[in-house]
Amino acid sequence: MNAFSSHPGGALAGRTALITGASAGIGEAFARLLAAEGASLLLVARREDRLLALANELEQAHGIRAEVFAVDLSRPEAASDIVAAATRMHLTIDVLVNNAGFAAATGFLNSEWSALNAEIQVMMTAVTELMFRFSPGMKARGFGRIINLASLAAFAPTAPSMLYTGIKSYVLNVSQAVDMELKPFGVHVTALCPGFTWSEFHDVQGTRALTSKLPGFMWHDAATVARLGLAAVMAGRPVCVPGAFNKTVAFTSRLFPERLRYVMGKAGKMVE
Ligand SMILES: NC(=O)c1ccc[n+]([C@@H]2O[C@H](COP(=O)([O-])OP(=O)(O)OC[C@H]3O[C@@H](n4cnc5c(N)ncnc54)[C@H](OP(=O)(O)O)[C@@H]3O)[C@@H](O)[C@H]2O)c1
Repeated sequence: MNAFSSHPGGALAGRTALITGASAGIGEAFARLLAAEGASLLLVARREDRLLALANELEQAHGIRAEVFAVDLSRPEAASDIVAAATRMHLTIDVLVNNAGFAAATGFLNSEWSALNAEIQVMMTAVTELMFRFSPGMKARGFGRIINLASLAAFAPTAPSMLYTGIKSYVLNVSQAVDMELKPFGVHVTALCPGFTWSEFHDVQGTRALTSKLPGFMWHDAATVARLGLAAVMAGRPVCVPGAFNKTVAFTSRLFPERLRYVMGKAGKMVE
């Protein structure tokens, strides 16, 4: 039996979920959770070997269909390639988890434009285009669930990761706006805003040594984040901030005057 349904097939039996960034961390946790809920999967990321191993494992464990599509989401045509792949595989996407992402830890003018542009493509353009491409079908069928990975960082800017916090604010805002439009048609959109979460994120960012000094209560595991995010979208909650500590940070940061948020952001050393 599972968290959302009273029937053994799972709340999402017969549905198909597309998960970007399924080769690690929170995306992999979503794949495990959705497979356990009975959903078939289309797993997307660059590391095809990891996707294939996960797809194979989940097919055997849950008797679902799991397909993979390896793509670099920083390529402008990535979203349309994913749509074409889903069509070729005869997959009807009912659940979309826009999860792939990363944060650079270099300053604005120290960065190459290609690196900044990759952040925008992966976490803004691809997120928006995949919603745009898959939500008409969801609306027509009267069922859709979309989870977009924002972050606790969406609630305030920080200097060291200048694009990341702005990008995640966009994801937080646009998710709510699209939810307002689509909810009457049975399509729920949730911005999932985790704080520090155990995954490969801080290794990729190069901030593992710094972040590992943070106290345990500030951290969640990826499975918990995925479980809370899925519960939120199933319940039709447009914003999900996992955990009491993160909820307090999100709430209080909104109470601070703009000037104070600026000063705190400037002093900030890392993001999640
Ligand atoms: N961990 C945290 O503390 C934290 C907190 C708040 C929000 N988040 C957000 O949660 C999401 C998932 O992060 P995570 O913590 O699970 O990080 P992670 O363990 O590093 O996983 C990131 C995933 O994104 C994929 N990805 C990155 N760049 C890609 C690209 N150009 N094309 C295709 N796929 C790409 C990676 O796959 P490949 O490398 O195989 O392509 C990987 O599967 C991100 O959007 C992140 O911003 C994380």
